[in-house]
Amino acid sequence: MGYKETLLSPVKIGSHECSNRFFAQPMECVDSDAEGNPTELTYKRYENLYKGNFGLVDLEAITVTNESRARQTQLEIMPRNEKPLAKFIAHLKKVNPKVRIVFQLTHSGEISEPEFSRRVTVKPLYGKGGDLIGEEEVDKITDQFVLSSKIAQAAGADGIDLKFCHGYLGSQILRPYNDRRWKYGGSWANRSRFAFDLMERIQRGVADPGFIIGSKVSLWEGFPGGCGSAGPDSPLMDLTESLDLLKGLEDRGATYFVESLGNVHASMNYMEATQDEPYLAYLHFYFARKMKEVLKKETVVIGSSFSPLRGNKNKLLFVEPGRSSIFAMGARCIEDGIMDMIGLGRQSLTDPLTPLKLEEGRESEIKYCTQCMNCEELMIRQQPVGCVLANPYYTELFRQTRKKMGRLTELHT
Ligand SMILES: Cc1cc2nc3c(=O)[nH]c(=O)nc-3n(C[C@H](O)[C@H](O)[C@H](O)COP(=O)(O)O)c2cc1C
Repeated sequence: MGYKETLLSPVKIGSHECSNRFFAQPMECVDSDAEGNPTELTYKRYENLYKGNFGLVDLEAITVTNESRARQTQLEIMPRNEKPLAKFIAHLKKVNPKVRIVFQLTHSGEISEPEFSRRVTVKPLYGKGGDLIGEEEVDKITDQFVLSSKIAQAAGADGIDLKFCHGYLGSQILRPYNDRRWKYGGSWANRSRFAFDLMERIQRGVADPGFIIGSKVSLWEGFPGGCGSAGPDSPLMDLTESLDLLKGLEDRGATYFVESLGNVHASMNYMEATQDEPYLAYLHFYFARKMKEVLKKETVVIGSSFSPLRGNKNKLLFVEPGRSSIFAMGARCIEDGIMDMIGLGRQSLTDPLTPLKLEEGRESEIKYCTQCMNCEELMIRQQPVGCVLANPYYTELFRQTRKKMGRLTELHT
């Protein structure tokens, strides 16, 4: 089979059919209004993804509370947001009824920005910190996630993605570093309690087997004591708990998972490989395969880190260019049973019409992400995010931002 046939073939997640194998990764773009509702910029971004005909779109990290959050103008999912979100989804469904959408529910925990919100922590990391939270507060956060799931359902989302990746609160509770003696820390049974209870409570709350529930997971956070390490201060990788997390969530009804690695502060290149290290994609393929090995055949695994592969102009060595592109490598991964769908993150900002152009035989018109990381710089600076190279609006915004704030030298902030 050619890559086009593979990538454009449908796939089922639970009872939903995704029309092709393209997954639009959740991409926080910091462009909500003051109440956390979608603005014109948000509409435009998602309209483009819908026109681009992605099989499944993951609505970026949407916070279950505005008390603690990472971005000042981050999308929010609290009762006051239900109507605006319902209008937003109804609009998108008109643009393209075939596209399926899940909302990535998050709480930023220790990554919350103290300038405008409350930074909280389950156990302060060296060099970080925040208010230590107790059991009651975690119970309250669980309630907020359950409520937000019901809001997502009422607003017309096809499902949710529980964010257990990149060092946000979900990962903070799960990681071995959380060795505090409390209901949510210490033993794996305690650290996984939040995730498993949450999943059960959401299932009961939405009470709809057709509502898709899954999770984007950093199987390995890439620092001592992070998720996927052998102990609270161990630099050694050990996937036992990460794989148990997946199985436990699957047992409780999860029907898809998005593979990811890394932590937004400690090991960003594992989550977002740069132009010079496209080979990190191979690491992601290995983790995706590990996921497939422990999960049921019908549970969908979505792979990450495809953007640096580009068309055939990437920096992979010892691979024929025709075999190293996003499309060729992505199709190969699906055909080999490594994953079921391929996730496009930065590439979806550069060219949200990527799947459509493949479908229509317009591959030569696809613009490819160069990993210039200017989108990331806009995000760190709390500015609306988009592709600075491909979209003139963001080119100008980036120019103005640099003029006002100077050059950002460190992306790992
Ligand atoms: C600007 C920006 C925003 C992001 N926002 C999110 C997010 O909201 N949730 C998430 O899980 N990952 C987020 N990511 C990570 C991507 O979803 C993706 O995992 C990563 O970029 C690797 O995929 P890629 O190589 O296709 O870009 C973000 C990345 C960037 C650059």
